[in-house]
Amino acid sequence: MTDLVVANCRQLVSLAGPARARTGAEMRKLGIIPDGALVARDGCILKVGTRAEIERVLSPDAEIVDAGGRIVLPGFVDAHTHPVFAGNRADEFEERAEGATYAEIAARGGGIRSTVRRTRAADEADLLAVARRYRGWFLRGGTTTIEAKSGYGLTIEAELKILRVIRKLDAEGSLRLAPTFLGAHEVPDEYLGRRSEYVRLVIEEMLPAVWRGDLAESCDVFCEPTVFPVEEARGILEAARALGFSLRVHADQFSADEGSLLAAEVGADTADHLEATTERGWMALAAAQVQPVLLPASVYCLGSGRYAAARQMIERGLAVTLGTDFNPGSSPTTSMPLVLSLAVTQMKMTCAEAITGATINAAYSLRRGEIVGSLEEGKLADFAIHDCDDYRELPYFFGRDTARAVYIGGVRQIW
Ligand code: NIG
Ligand code: FE
Repeated sequence: MTDLVVANCRQLVSLAGPARARTGAEMRKLGIIPDGALVARDGCILKVGTRAEIERVLSPDAEIVDAGGRIVLPGFVDAHTHPVFAGNRADEFEERAEGATYAEIAARGGGIRSTVRRTRAADEADLLAVARRYRGWFLRGGTTTIEAKSGYGLTIEAELKILRVIRKLDAEGSLRLAPTFLGAHEVPDEYLGRRSEYVRLVIEEMLPAVWRGDLAESCDVFCEPTVFPVEEARGILEAARALGFSLRVHADQFSADEGSLLAAEVGADTADHLEATTERGWMALAAAQVQPVLLPASVYCLGSGRYAAARQMIERGLAVTLGTDFNPGSSPTTSMPLVLSLAVTQMKMTCAEAITGATINAAYSLRRGEIVGSLEEGKLADFAIHDCDDYRELPYFFGRDTARAVYIGGVRQIW
C-alpha cells in the first residue's frame, strides 16, 4: 500500500501523552500540533509532526490528502452503545412529551421490553441491515470505534444472534466494535414473578455460551434496585469475571451509590451513567480506579436535567470518559459531537476535557488504549477531518455534522 499523507491541518489534535487514561490536569492537554501532518502506512500511523517534519520523510509516490486548513482528530471512541435492535420507540418519545415517565412506560410493558419483543422477532440479516444503517450515522459524527452491547434479546438464542451481528459488523471493517454481553438488561416478560430463575439462566447458561462462542469481551449489568438489585448484579458480575470477561456496570442511573460501590468492589473497568452518585460512590470509584462513563445524551433525552457530576469526578482524579448510550429508548443518538456539547454546557467540562473523554480515555476504558484514541506512531490510522478551525468549535457550533472525511486503518470510509 502506498503511504497516505494528511497535510495542511490547522490543528492536528494528537492526544499524545502517557500510555494510560488521563486524569486531572492531563485531561486538558490535547497535544495539538499547529500546521500538523501525519503519515500512515499499512493501516498504522508512521509519523505525526509539523508540515516541515513530515515533508522530510515524504516518499515520492505517497497519496496526499489536503485537509484544507481544517482540524484532524483521532476517531471518536464511543464507550457505551446499544446499537443492535429492531424498530424504534418514537411513539414512547412522544408519550413522554405528553407527561408519561420512562419508568411508567416500562411498568406497563413498554420500554426495554417492547424493543426486546421486536428484536426477538427479527432475523439476523434484518438486524445486520439496520445496524449497517446506524454505522453510517456513527461515522458521520466522526466515530471510528464503539463499545456495543447486546441486551435486547434476553434469551440465549436472541442474545447470541445480537452478538453475532456485532461481530459481523466489526468484521466488515468500516467501524470497530468492542462487544459487551448485557443479558442482565431487564427481566424479560416470561420471567416476571420468577426473576431469580432468569438470573440463574444468565449465570449458568448465557455467560458460558457467550464465552465459548467468543462473542463478547465484557459483561455489563443494569444495576438498579428496580431492575437488577445489587445482590443479583454481584452474582452475575462475579460469574462473568470468573470466566474471564472484563466488567462494565450500568450504575446509579436513578438511585444513589449501590451501583458504583459494586463496580468498585468487583473491579469493573467502568461504571456508566452515575447521574445519582454521591461523594461515597465517587471515592469508591477513585480508590478502585474504575473509569466513569458519563452519558449526558440520555439525561438530555429523558429531560431529567440531572447530569452526572463530571467536575467533582475530575477533581477526585477519576478518568472521566464519554459515550452516547445510543439506544432506542433513553438516547437515540449516535453523535459524539452532541455529547461533547452537552459535556461542556451541562456538565461544565472544558472542551479539551470532553475531547479527552471521547477519545483516549474511552479507548483505555475498552482496553484499546494501545491501538486507538490518539494519533501517535504505531497506532491504527483511525482519524477524522473536521470542518473547524479550532477544536473548541466542535462542541461550540452544536447540532451540525462536522466530519468531512473519516479514515479507519488509513482507508477513507463512505456512508
Ligand atoms: O443505558 N439504562 C438502561 N439501558 C439503556 C436504556 C435502554 C432502553 O430504554 O431501551 C440506557 O439508558
Ligand atoms: Fe446504556
